[in-house]
Amino acid sequence: MANIIRRPDWFLPERLATPERVFMNRRHFMRGLGLAGGAAFLGASPFAQGGPADAPAGGAKYPAARNPEFNPGWPLSNEKVAANYNNFYEFSTNKANVAKLVGKFVTSPWSVSIGGLVDQPLTLDAQEWIAQMTLEERVYRFRCVEAWSMIVPWTGFPLSQLLAKVAPQSGAKFVRFETFNRPDQAPGFERLSDYPWPYTEGLRLDEAMNPLTMVVTGVYGKPLPKQHGAPLRIIVPWKYGYKSIKSIVKIDLVAKQPKTLWETINPAEYPFESNVNPKVPHPRWSQATERMIDTDDRVATQLFNGYAKYVEPLYKKG
Ligand code: MTE
Repeated sequence: MANIIRRPDWFLPERLATPERVFMNRRHFMRGLGLAGGAAFLGASPFAQGGPADAPAGGAKYPAARNPEFNPGWPLSNEKVAANYNNFYEFSTNKANVAKLVGKFVTSPWSVSIGGLVDQPLTLDAQEWIAQMTLEERVYRFRCVEAWSMIVPWTGFPLSQLLAKVAPQSGAKFVRFETFNRPDQAPGFERLSDYPWPYTEGLRLDEAMNPLTMVVTGVYGKPLPKQHGAPLRIIVPWKYGYKSIKSIVKIDLVAKQPKTLWETINPAEYPFESNVNPKVPHPRWSQATERMIDTDDRVATQLFNGYAKYVEPLYKKG
């Protein structure tokens, strides 16, 4: 396990404190042995198994300009490793298999509705939305509850911009998100037939309106591949990854905290709030550190995944 090196801005793994040439040589050597992170499943293309979204209209919008506020200079996680290490239970519980099973998944046309306690409900095709919005790229850390993490350039726009369009009513306190429910296009539905499908998630309205919360339509400068949640998903970078629901078909503003899929299955392990916190262990493992998916470096986990300056005020009591 790599040493954890403390730096003022983050806790850097050893490789980032190692001169680049020495590090590259070590990687080269490890790759020769087949030991580098994820080497076993690195094919020629991350999308070799039918991963790209169907007819991703608006391709001209990629890559979008990177928002300087979220351009931290950290090395990005390897794109191919990220595209072949997916949690998407509608397809498989095996991360390496998701990209191989998305072939029948139809992501265009794709209707998304926003409704509930709003004055101007909307139903639009995902590509129409994408065409209307100004896209930007942001490099975020992404931390799964399973204690792995990656650093990824997401493309999209703040969810708050979308919510402003539907004019939330004063009674709206939470946002509920819902994924597609198509057992004919994704084998996981039948294999996990006792799960309370469709996958649903939720946020408090103020969490949804926080500038960090993004509707994501692309990654690594391209439209989202299916296994990452085409045609659109959300990313909530200070919360564990299960809150970042993929392939959304419905967004509802509601008065009461909605029941989510994971909270219904196991509330003790996957609670609604789910803020990244190294001091609160998962009932079955520590959350103090995380493993980078491509390098296997182990780094210290940060409160709110390092985004405390943006979100701490949301959780101040009183
Ligand atoms: N969204 C849906 N619809 N289905 C899922 O199984 N898994 C979640 C989240 N969103 C999931 C989902 C979990 S546990 C994680 S860690 C992330 O997606 C993984 O996103 P990625 O595969 O793009 O890295």
